[in-house]
Amino acid sequence: EGLHSLFVASGKLFFGTATETNNFGDSAYQVIVNNKNEFGMFVPENSQKWGPIEPTEGDFQFESPDSIVNRAEGNGQMFRCHALTWHSQLPAFVENGTWTRETLTSAIQTHIATVMGHYKGQCYSWDVVNEALNDNGTFRDSVFFRVLGTDFLPISFKAAEAADPTAKLYYNDFNLETIRNKTDAAVRIVELIRAAGARIDGLGFQAHFRVGGTPSQASLVATMNRFVDMGLEVALSELDIAHNSLPADSRALAQQSTDYVAAVGACLAVPKCVGITLWQFTDKYSWIPSTFPGAGDACLFSANFTKKPAYTAVKNLLTAV
Ligand code: G3I
Repeated sequence: EGLHSLFVASGKLFFGTATETNNFGDSAYQVIVNNKNEFGMFVPENSQKWGPIEPTEGDFQFESPDSIVNRAEGNGQMFRCHALTWHSQLPAFVENGTWTRETLTSAIQTHIATVMGHYKGQCYSWDVVNEALNDNGTFRDSVFFRVLGTDFLPISFKAAEAADPTAKLYYNDFNLETIRNKTDAAVRIVELIRAAGARIDGLGFQAHFRVGGTPSQASLVATMNRFVDMGLEVALSELDIAHNSLPADSRALAQQSTDYVAAVGACLAVPKCVGITLWQFTDKYSWIPSTFPGAGDACLFSANFTKKPAYTAVKNLLTAV
């Protein structure tokens, strides 16, 4: 038994992980990631983003995500896709382009039609728009917002619905779990997408937490239920829980276990929470230390691939369900 097989036994669709082709040569990593009892779903950590996948206009680089989806399908794992309209990791031609409403709309539509079209039928879900909000609930400055205002949201979701009618269409963001103004703004995003006649199926809570700063299970459940009450499914889409300082002592490791149990327990407690994705499962490849120097060890497996106390705590929780 592993995390995925236990999670599925309690009615969920997947317990998965972000992964990337630069991890393919690491044999110890591969033994774990290819075990579908442990991880039943992959999401490419970077290679489907606009910059990597379309570095210059019309030049599409599908090789890395293709090899990830092929591996998932070969292993009998699901595949989640990430991300279409996002302010970060944009190619220069988008970031610095001279756009009008018409030309940027058409660039978004072409990008989404081509990328989603390439993976048509292979993605359980797509993060159609990622991180459109500032933490205070206002819209983030981006080329999309500057040129199109909030219209970039329904434009993206309509293009996505047309490109692959079977993929679940998600809005994905971080700190929705903890900042009320941002959650309220995400509710308004769902409303404005629908008001424009577009479809949205799911809300992705990235769940990048800190040890000791993770919301309680009850609080997470209440936040997820705001979106479930609007008819959406929800997921924890990029879960990791970083220590603020390293090395972590036994107390910090115990708190990390408590925090992971709160997050996984919240998904278990919400029937419409369909699954959890870790943002890498080993500290060896976590994004945290390069972005937040001094913080880290956020994953369930150590850099040496040993199972950390938080892994055991999550597994015990899932075994007890
Ligand atoms: O691939 C290039 C390489 O060619 C180059 O030599 C090197 C030099 O810096 O950069 C490499 O690209 C890096 C890329 O990761 C692949 O390793 C980028 O600099 C680096 O910025 C990028 O970081 C990623 C980050 O998104 C970018 O915003 C992280 O790996 C990835 O984990 C992180 O993931 C995001 C989610 O997509 C959205 N939610 C937040 C999450 C964490 O930031």
